[in-house]
Amino acid sequence: MTEFDKFKDVYHGEINSAIGFSGKDQNYFTKVKAGYLIDLLDKYFPHTAELRVLDVGCGHGDIHAQLNSIAPRIALTGVDVAESVIADAKAMHPQNLYLAYDGNRLPFESNSFDAAFAICVMHHVPPAQWLNFLREMKRVVRTDGLVVIFEHNPLNPVTRRIVDTCPLDENAVLLPAGNLQALMRQADLSDVKKSFIIFTPFGNKLFKLFDRAMFWMPLGAQYYVRGRKA
Ligand SMILES: C[S@@+](CC[C@H](N)C(=O)[O-])C[C@H]1O[C@@H](n2cnc3c(N)ncnc32)[C@H](O)[C@@H]1O
Repeated sequence: MTEFDKFKDVYHGEINSAIGFSGKDQNYFTKVKAGYLIDLLDKYFPHTAELRVLDVGCGHGDIHAQLNSIAPRIALTGVDVAESVIADAKAMHPQNLYLAYDGNRLPFESNSFDAAFAICVMHHVPPAQWLNFLREMKRVVRTDGLVVIFEHNPLNPVTRRIVDTCPLDENAVLLPAGNLQALMRQADLSDVKKSFIIFTPFGNKLFKLFDRAMFWMPLGAQYYVRGRKA
């Protein structure tokens, strides 16, 4: 049984209690990331009618409801090491495919997906396995495919406070965005770029524009790094 199998029934409550001071819940921040992900998929694959997208460490599939409803051209597959959590995801989103795996080798042929993403997963993966984690994501996407990693930004003091107080993050090892960029290049991904996100907990149009304009400033609560398979 993995860490997140044990947390399965308290997972959402613990997160919401850790971020409650922001006035927003987990659903809000998940929606923000869904927006960024859809922007990236639209930018990199404007003409692909059906996009095969893999969510590595998908947990309960919290972002899948958003992606399924806003972007019907995305065919989603989710994998996770926590078997009971994957069973929940299956029950909640029967239209998607979910599989448990060993956390080492993704259970897919090479070149199976257009894109693969992982949201707040790598800080739960032991650092010695980070490079393999990225190489596996690269392996399963096709040539020109996209790999996107969303992570907590250790340079943001509010993020650090949340991670320090949330029981789910007891064993978390945060990765600075620059280190992740270097690892993605080591995994032989090309065109590797980072963007900092979530500078405020406000979601109106003006703050959305502000968030996107500030991508270069290393103080957002989270960030994403994307790279392509050449
Ligand atoms: C904080 S949760 C994030 C879940 C989901 N990505 C989300 O944003 O709602 C971290 C997830 O990573 C999973 N995980 C940990 N190590 C993993 C690995 N090596 N491969 C895949 N998933 C892993 C955990 O089981 C857990 O479900």
